[in-house]
Amino acid sequence: MATRTVTTTARSVWRSTVVLKVAMAISGLIVVLFLLAHMYGNLKVFSGQAAFDEYSHHLREMGEPMLPYAGVLWIIRVVLLVAIGIHIFSAVTLWRRARVATAGGGGGRYESKKAPRGSQRSYASFTMRWGGIIIVLFVVYHLLHLTWNTIAPGGATDSPYERVVNGFEIWWVVLSYTIALLAVGFHLRHGVWAALASLGANTSQRRRRQLNMLATLVAVVVTLGFLLPPFAILFGLVG
Ligand code: HEM
Repeated sequence: MATRTVTTTARSVWRSTVVLKVAMAISGLIVVLFLLAHMYGNLKVFSGQAAFDEYSHHLREMGEPMLPYAGVLWIIRVVLLVAIGIHIFSAVTLWRRARVATAGGGGGRYESKKAPRGSQRSYASFTMRWGGIIIVLFVVYHLLHLTWNTIAPGGATDSPYERVVNGFEIWWVVLSYTIALLAVGFHLRHGVWAALASLGANTSQRRRRQLNMLATLVAVVVTLGFLLPPFAILFGLVG
């Protein structure tokens, strides 16, 4: 009897709103680290085909011979998949919980005459929920395009550099990436701030301003950094 009570309590602690918020924050920050590294790696496109293809090859050789070929890459993939899974699970659970708690009304936060539904709430819910869905759809499209070579706008090839250049010579491919990266930017602008606040960093007015600045900086660096290669290729500066 006593064991059952403890088990139930432990379970409810793991599913508590605080734990879910912290899980969402940490998993989100793991993805941000991946994005910063991925964005930086993509800039190798400016060093030419040999450098970019070598970089892609190196990603697979990392950790050899201690790990098998592509071992480190697989560890990164598993960590990313788990982080994304936890992030989406926490987001959906918290969203459902808030809907039930406020009977779908959102609790009337940030309401004003100008924004009767709450401006902050609708901005956040739009960028986080719709932005999140756009990003998930984009990642599937992106993997089909640049990782698996299943869809190959501009022509299929074994060279990662040529896959990138062939794709971004086409305006609608650049447009689709631009839309997705704007969604990523808005998601990060709100998400980085919310994650740091969930982890207890929002301790004063001054700290709040700093966190907002940091969130904006991360969002701008990631978005612009990712968009540099597609636009440079589209305008013929690379390739
Ligand atoms: C213009 C922007 C981007 C470019 C040019 C780009 C380029 C690439 C390339 C070339 C690969 C294949 C790497 C390889 O197999 O050697 C790749 C993989 C990947 N990209 Fe991107 N990427 C961009 C944006 C993004 C964004 C915004 C995300 C996430 C939201 C993302 C997530 C991934 C993931 C998850 C992989 C798979 C890594 C793996 O498992 O091999 N990428 N990207």
